[in-house]
Amino acid sequence: MDRFLIEGGVRLAGRVDISGAKNAALPAMAAALLTEQRVVLRNVPRVRDIGTLRSLMEELGVDSSVVHEEHGNRVEIEARRLLNPLAPYELVKQMRASVLVLGPLLARFGHARVSLPGGCAIGARPINLHIRGLERMGARITIDHGYINARADGLKGTSFYFDTISVTGTENLMMAATLAQGETVLENCAREPEVVDLANLLIEMGARITGAGTPTISIHGVGSLHGADHVVIPDRIEAGTFLVAAGITKSHLVLERVEPAHLTAVIAKLSEAGLSIRELSPTELEVHRDGALRPADVTTHEYPGFPTDMQAQYMALMTQAEGSSVITETIFENRFLHALELARMGADITVNGRRAVVRGRTPLSGANVQASDLRASASLVLAGLAAEGETIIDRVYHIDRGYERIEEKLTKVGARIKRISES
Ligand code: EPZ
Repeated sequence: MDRFLIEGGVRLAGRVDISGAKNAALPAMAAALLTEQRVVLRNVPRVRDIGTLRSLMEELGVDSSVVHEEHGNRVEIEARRLLNPLAPYELVKQMRASVLVLGPLLARFGHARVSLPGGCAIGARPINLHIRGLERMGARITIDHGYINARADGLKGTSFYFDTISVTGTENLMMAATLAQGETVLENCAREPEVVDLANLLIEMGARITGAGTPTISIHGVGSLHGADHVVIPDRIEAGTFLVAAGITKSHLVLERVEPAHLTAVIAKLSEAGLSIRELSPTELEVHRDGALRPADVTTHEYPGFPTDMQAQYMALMTQAEGSSVITETIFENRFLHALELARMGADITVNGRRAVVRGRTPLSGANVQASDLRASASLVLAGLAAEGETIIDRVYHIDRGYERIEEKLTKVGARIKRISES
């Protein structure tokens, strides 16, 4: 297993190219199952999760190809036929977003057998709302041996209210509804930009969808969908991570190919903490920090609130603030694992249920740490950049799931970070 070796205390400077959003590319790839025609996706990030979903597509008998382009990969998918409507445990356990094939497989082919994703480090991660919504559309779903068995002789439009706002739940049901008979109204939907990007792709494929980005999404089913050529939106979480990198190392960076409008809550909070962030152009953000960092409390919320996927990175930053801050995590029940590793580097953090109190400023010293999930590993990289001495981060495969060549991007702006491949 690869590990990162980071020499901290180095100022960064320069321009960072932000990749396409993993959490937009994954549902977009699943949407390609809804048509037998070719779907072309551009600006797809070169991250592990994309490879995992391509492997799952192969299992299903769906051809896909990847071409390296100037900005990300071009992924082409043609789901002409389905050999095997099975999403096996071996692949689903690697990436819970595999559950996104459930809605499209049911809508297009009428049957699917998808492994239950199971929990992960940050929480139980149930998919009861995905299942209940599909049942409301007429699917017959049983669960045995850890698998979801779903059948439907044509889905029917329905109305469905999400008890809990769910990003992939909204995406799964929206995709299923595109080929259902009649009107589907989904309420209390997720409003994330990745949901809107998926709706835009589906509309480019001929779907009839209104309301994406608002709590109520209406889908009028159509007989079939056709191919499309779609550019995936920028990764707002990668961008937020590099904003924090500038803040924690007192550096000046320019982020390229970003969508500032997707980062409003993050920019507001980081500015409150003392970072100077401004739009250089509609796709460029300039960030620097000169003075002291100020403590600023934060509570994670569904979009457009402060994203849970930025919470770990923000906690690393708050260890360098002059004072105490309170971080409240409202989305997942166990998303403070990074606090234990940050404490090993010298941070002073007290976790109590969904709240963590960070007492800054504490100097960080390099240490051997290990990542537990994708964003926790990002926070450890950030802490390593600011720590005195050498930090070694194990289990770097977590970060490779969602960050494209992060060590290369950081090295390009002056960081001393290298990957040590165990093999
Ligand atoms: C998506 O996960 C993202 N993943 C996550 O990003 C992100 O952290 C999360 O949304 C929240 O923003 C992808 O988009 C691939 P949820 P998802 O369903 O859809 C509860 C990353 O770092 N819930 O929005 O799986 C659930 O327990 C990843 O890239 C149910 O109760 O999350 C949680 O408390 C990590 N029943 C809340 O909803 C359900 O059927 C939000 O979960 C579904 C969800």
